Amino acid sequence: MNSIYITYYILLTNAYSYQSSLGNGPRSFWNSLTDLTDGIQDILQMYGTRPNINSSVLPEVENSMTISTGLPGTRFQPIVDQNIADICIPMMQCNRTSRYRTINGSCNNLMFPMWGLTGTALVRLIPALYQDGLHQPRMSVTGRPLPNVRDLRNGLLYNKNTPDHINTLIVMEWGQIISHDTTHISVLPVSSLGDLQCCINNTYPAMVTELPAQCMPIQVPVDDPYFSRFNQTCLNFIRSVTTTDYGCSLVPQQQLAMVTHFVDASFIYGSTDYIANLIRNGTGGKLAVQRTPDGREFPPNVPNATHYCDVSMDSETCYLAGDSRVNQNTDVSIIHIVFLREHNKLCTELLALNPHWDDERLYQEARRIVVAAVQRITYSDFLIVMLGVVLIFRKDRTTPAETEFQIMTLMNYIMAMKLC
Ligand code: HEM
Repeated sequence: MNSIYITYYILLTNAYSYQSSLGNGPRSFWNSLTDLTDGIQDILQMYGTRPNINSSVLPEVENSMTISTGLPGTRFQPIVDQNIADICIPMMQCNRTSRYRTINGSCNNLMFPMWGLTGTALVRLIPALYQDGLHQPRMSVTGRPLPNVRDLRNGLLYNKNTPDHINTLIVMEWGQIISHDTTHISVLPVSSLGDLQCCINNTYPAMVTELPAQCMPIQVPVDDPYFSRFNQTCLNFIRSVTTTDYGCSLVPQQQLAMVTHFVDASFIYGSTDYIANLIRNGTGGKLAVQRTPDGREFPPNVPNATHYCDVSMDSETCYLAGDSRVNQNTDVSIIHIVFLREHNKLCTELLALNPHWDDERLYQEARRIVVAAVQRITYSDFLIVMLGVVLIFRKDRTTPAETEFQIMTLMNYIMAMKLC
């Protein structure tokens, strides 16, 4: 794994100059989330329905599947009620002898083939708490609205610079990469023009109730320490895509993750067949690249860069990769570049060893090795930094089940950042 780290640092120094035009502002990120290149088309087909974005009323949901009271003595929902993959999507057949992981995460667990499938929900540890038990935001126990979220953020969280003298930036970045590998709770695409606009020119709308049901704009206090400088009184908050949007009668609704739930390098290879095929070269098992004049490989560009990134011309750098957040910040892009090059290098080496292998075999075998590398870095390197060597290897006092629990707990904390 050392070579990967070293490559990372070389790339890091190169990339800031190479990618001077890379869009990394909020606009590029949000646009990339909502575009059809996320493979949302594939997911729509899976559910066999089209979501209704313009409705100002959330659809009525039949209550027959109301989640039961939970496991005795706990607040946990029974697993059987949590997994929308089992409930909302027709069962699919698995090739039980396949040597390779599917792109969409299905059939990874042959007993529960739909678990971890792209477009299904992550399992909750604690049940969702909606005001109406289905999808309405919670109110205070007094019946009044909860405190303004921006007020809470300003009051509770301080901007403080606390440099870490031990860990480098890649520790943070690997956390972000795993989150991109395992979760992407998206909003519905409105049109090729971009997201739903729930604010009016950055101003909190007077008639919030007339907005589409997916709109939940955040009111910013007029004396906000940051946004008051721009006379901005509204943040464009759009509710996540859920089972309700896809016509699945689950109560309460569940949010859908638009990527496979497994640590399976889906950020490199994609989580739908559509994306996976789009980013393949088609020969020698390799992933598609664009090359600099001196021969260095970078991910290909999206066809219309001005739509996905904050750039002024479509010819400017804006990458297309297995995960649509590849352009979110330069360090994310760098990890993508490292693994893209690693995959293609492996293909060259595997071809030299096995000249009879075709494109598919080379692609799948190289992918298999890259997935193993990503898992190894995550479980053996990253988690040790996060949890501490003592915690992971304290065999005398920690049973394997406890270790597994600690690892899962950490992964869940990473996911829980979504809720902050
Ligand atoms: C430069 C650093 C980062 C930036 C700019 C960033 C930005 C964002 C943004 C804009 C979102 C979408 C928020 C939303 O959907 O409302 C997001 C989601 C998320 N971030 Fe980050 N993030 C960064 C680093 C990290 C790190 C280090 C981690 C974990 C260790 C992380 C974990 C997550 C998770 C789990 C989500 C929710 C993903 C989902 O299910 O949609 N992020 N981040």
